[in-house]
Amino acid sequence: MDFLAPYAALFEKQLQNLDYPKKPETLYRPQRYILKNGGKRIRPILSLISCGICGSDPVKAMPAALAVELLHNFTLIHDDIMDQADSRRGEPSVHKKWNEATAILSGDSMFAHSLLQLQNISEDVDHKKISDLFLKAINKVCEGQAMDMEFETRNDVTIDEYHQMIDGKTGALIGAAMQMGGMCGSASQNQLEKLLVIGNSLGLAFQIQDDWLDVFGDPEKIGKRKAGDIHEGKKTLLMLSALERCSKTEREVILGYLDNKPLSEPEVEEVVKIFESNGIKEETKDQFLKHYRHAEKALREFGDSNYKQDLQHLIKFLKNRES
Ligand code: IPE
Ligand code: IPE
Ligand code: MG
Ligand code: MG
Ligand code: MG
Repeated sequence: MDFLAPYAALFEKQLQNLDYPKKPETLYRPQRYILKNGGKRIRPILSLISCGICGSDPVKAMPAALAVELLHNFTLIHDDIMDQADSRRGEPSVHKKWNEATAILSGDSMFAHSLLQLQNISEDVDHKKISDLFLKAINKVCEGQAMDMEFETRNDVTIDEYHQMIDGKTGALIGAAMQMGGMCGSASQNQLEKLLVIGNSLGLAFQIQDDWLDVFGDPEKIGKRKAGDIHEGKKTLLMLSALERCSKTEREVILGYLDNKPLSEPEVEEVVKIFESNGIKEETKDQFLKHYRHAEKALREFGDSNYKQDLQHLIKFLKNRES
């Protein structure tokens, strides 16, 4: 990720400058904790590069980059409560290290801190337009999260519905990160539309790959429980494709397990075997690679620049990511 290091360094410095008060401790310590525990910083880097691609200095997009990363980390704090996930980035998730009430409130405060960043955007940028875009994207994330949870108790979820769900829970923020970056760089309407096309494909690719890594990645590298999605009975693309393609007996086995969530370790292992024997592992990888290729294709519409090259590198890095 060498070529992206300058963006990451620039962003990290700004993040450290965020002046979180010391007290109340239970409100601010969890926020400092989740921000210090790393993360790939994909969304803020996308904001910075998008600003550059549209012809401005990426630094102009720094407040948007901060807003987006704070919002992302807030969603992770609350998502880990919803998903009953005990670890995040190799450390206990906030509600495990403290408790649920503390995680809810520190997440809420982080949300407010995210929105406050918008006030630091340069005055020559249309503040109403950028906050409108951001708030609508946040609401789309909530819609996606609601669908994700509703799907846990449904066995008739379609692949179309799955795409709609991830387009909300993950795609909306990735798309907004890029468009907000563009807006900070005085992008034209045409440039904003092109950024959205790239963002949409990246969002789908990124979440399908997240589902894939959840099962087939190395939990040491990912820092989350192995196959947590299967344990929780999540309707991931792997699960939906398996239910569609496996034998009638295998389908009954999986549905039986899903009726008695959370799944036990041996049950999860059996489901993974069903995924593997039905070619779901390869098929799903092809799916996320296809969406990354769409993003690469849409990027070709932009004129050549160093920033375009950086985004090409970033997409390449994402394709091969292991965490
Ligand atoms: C995790 O996002 C949540 C999803 C939308 C899949 P990231 O994989 O970007 O998380 P960090 O910030 O790098 O830990
Ligand atoms: C993440 O989806 C979406 C949001 C946090 C909004 P996941 O639930 O798949 O993310 P991880 O796997 O916990 O990071
Ligand atoms: Mg979730
Ligand atoms: Mg989760
Ligand atoms: Mg996941």
